[in-house]
Amino acid sequence: MKTLIKNASVVLDHEIVEANVLIDGPQIATIDPADHSVAETTIDATGLHLMPGVIDDQVHFREPGLTHKEDLHHASHACAKGGVTSFLEMPNTIPNAITQSLLNDKLAIAAKNSIVNYGFYIGATTSNVDDLKHATRTPGIKIFIGSSTGDLLVDEQSALETIFGGTSLPICAHCEDEATVRSNAEKYKDSTDVADHSKIRDHEAAYIATKRSIDLAERHQHPFHVLHVSTAAEIDLIANASDLITAEVCPHHLFFNVDDYERLGSLVKMNPSIKTADDNAALWAALESGKITVIATDHAPHTMEEKRQPFPQCPSGLPAVENYLALMLNEVNQGRCSLTQLSHWMSAEPARVWNMKNKGRIAEGFDADLVLVDLNQERTILNEEQETKCRWSPWHGTKLKGWPVATWVMGNQVFRWRDGCEFDSDVRGREIEFTGERGKRFA
Ligand code: DOR
Repeated sequence: MKTLIKNASVVLDHEIVEANVLIDGPQIATIDPADHSVAETTIDATGLHLMPGVIDDQVHFREPGLTHKEDLHHASHACAKGGVTSFLEMPNTIPNAITQSLLNDKLAIAAKNSIVNYGFYIGATTSNVDDLKHATRTPGIKIFIGSSTGDLLVDEQSALETIFGGTSLPICAHCEDEATVRSNAEKYKDSTDVADHSKIRDHEAAYIATKRSIDLAERHQHPFHVLHVSTAAEIDLIANASDLITAEVCPHHLFFNVDDYERLGSLVKMNPSIKTADDNAALWAALESGKITVIATDHAPHTMEEKRQPFPQCPSGLPAVENYLALMLNEVNQGRCSLTQLSHWMSAEPARVWNMKNKGRIAEGFDADLVLVDLNQERTILNEEQETKCRWSPWHGTKLKGWPVATWVMGNQVFRWRDGCEFDSDVRGREIEFTGERGKRFA
């Protein structure tokens, strides 16, 4: 099956060109084929930009075990609508994904239920280093160096040394120092003010854990990715580290800060906590300077009922996968960044960091995971229109200019906007292949 996307502004690695793109089966066959190329389907993309599909390397899609919050059917529809063609999912499901057999179970569920491409991290515990050593069909190891939602936590130095020293898959970590968080929590134990969440999970907690993890990675020469950087001080640590270390920022740490608790309350309670306006500015600057190279969502849905519980019971996390490309396209329209920068931060870099085969770029022979965006379309994010199962967004009521209007996964069109969302829910994503070109993974 061939699809010809005609007259698009095509976002390549370093430039945008006016071109046709021919998809043949699951791959990009030709960039700039002749107008009369034969294809079963032809799409007129005049006035639209064709970008590589977005790759979100940090999501919590809750299946199995927490499917009252989210599941792969709803979450993958949210992805398709948001231009996200591949995701990497975190292990804090129930049961936690901490063995090969539990990983295989998640892969089997995704093969049945996901309309976009998928991969699953294996979670570290203090006692599963053998599972971590031998794990396959996974991008890497996730360590909760500080605890968050769920019960995964590896905080002891000896266990961390064993994992960094004894495994070869790339590692990523949730970096908030457990001892600091616990001691701050004790100080605020009688608080009912959600804004105190940022004083409990404070700047120091993030700094200590990120410093500790980078030190472990550098001593053991282990590829390491710092998840959801939230403070200016962490950026300096990352900038001074070797190229084994990569890092990402989430939209909520770019767009929200402590001033938003008053308006949004527990909807913006997440871990790591939101910080200050100065941190927002530093995180944007770190993207621009290349110190941080990946944007990921940490999509972490909870039901509105759960979120409405009083502090501190209300859980941490918010949904974002459906809207983050649009949030960033809006920034392109405001002149903050370019489309080539977006495709670097949201597609090419996550593909490179996690060794994905044939993903993240528009190039001949690469997978036809693509998103067509309309930079002129204006729409408002509304809770009632969300595909995510929790059906709310912290950006409810926000009008954005620039939206995804069509998405292809491995050459199959899964989403189109035609005065509303239309999905081909029969499409199935594929398991992402990890080739091991970066770091010492297959050394
Ligand atoms: O706020 C968060 N929620 N941060 C995490 O690291 C986990 C996530 C969740 O799973 O709810």
